[in-house]
Amino acid sequence: MNALIIGGTSGLGLELGTLFAGNYRVFITGRHDPGRNGLTCTIVDLSVERGELASKLDALLASLPSIDLLVYAAGFSQQGALESLDDGQIAAMTSVGLVAPAMLIQRILRKQNELPALIAVTSTSQWTPRPHEPIYTAVKAGLGMLGNSLSLDPKLGKVLVAAPAGMVTQFWREGKKDTTGMLEAPWVAQQIFGSFQEDFRYKYVRILRSPQRVEVVETR
Ligand SMILES: NC(=O)c1ccc[n+]([C@@H]2O[C@H](COP(=O)([O-])OP(=O)(O)OC[C@H]3O[C@@H](n4cnc5c(N)ncnc54)[C@H](OP(=O)(O)O)[C@@H]3O)[C@@H](O)[C@H]2O)c1
Repeated sequence: MNALIIGGTSGLGLELGTLFAGNYRVFITGRHDPGRNGLTCTIVDLSVERGELASKLDALLASLPSIDLLVYAAGFSQQGALESLDDGQIAAMTSVGLVAPAMLIQRILRKQNELPALIAVTSTSQWTPRPHEPIYTAVKAGLGMLGNSLSLDPKLGKVLVAAPAGMVTQFWREGKKDTTGMLEAPWVAQQIFGSFQEDFRYKYVRILRSPQRVEVVETR
């Protein structure tokens, strides 16, 4: 079986890749190759204009075997009130956070007529409004609903929407964010991996801190 992890080159996605490598041949994408044994990396920058994105996703899928599990973990931090963001920043966030997963899953379904499993990594920003993260919160809410809607499509096998709280990863590399007390990515990956093993068509879990816990919001 084959797993494709978009945003698998760092942090949570890389930890998930290591865990899933026990059961799957794992392909990862990102903007740099972490050189992790057993994980096959393709460089794909998703913050590009729509036509280039389409070509990159077509080329990626053409290079891969049939995908049994898609993990969508790509994301980046973007701080600033809406009027402080330029058009390029808005386009980059919507591309990485929502347009790319939609275009990728559309292509997977067209290519193989099914997607046995999908894990969409969102955030507490999926349901928590944040004035200095307006587009980030919007795409995370959108990705969560994309997963929920797709779970009603019989071509999708199982869909897990996983919404973690703050994690100590490269996500915060550009800011001065105090990451004290945040979740460790290997622990979060273990929770997602464990949740995924259960029998469901759709499951939405929140992975929270203080205290560290997993709350199942919905499962069916
Ligand atoms: N860290 C947190 O506090 C936190 C909390 C809740 C949710 N999340 C979400 O968790 C997911 C994983 O984040 P993380 O914390 O593990 O951060 P991370 O270590 O920075 O990993 C992010 C991944 O996304 C990829 N990525 C980012 N921008 C990209 C772009 N323009 N094109 C292609 N790939 C891109 C990165 O690739 P490269 O490194 O190769 O560029 C990397 O593989 C994200 O969806 C994030 O929104 C994070």
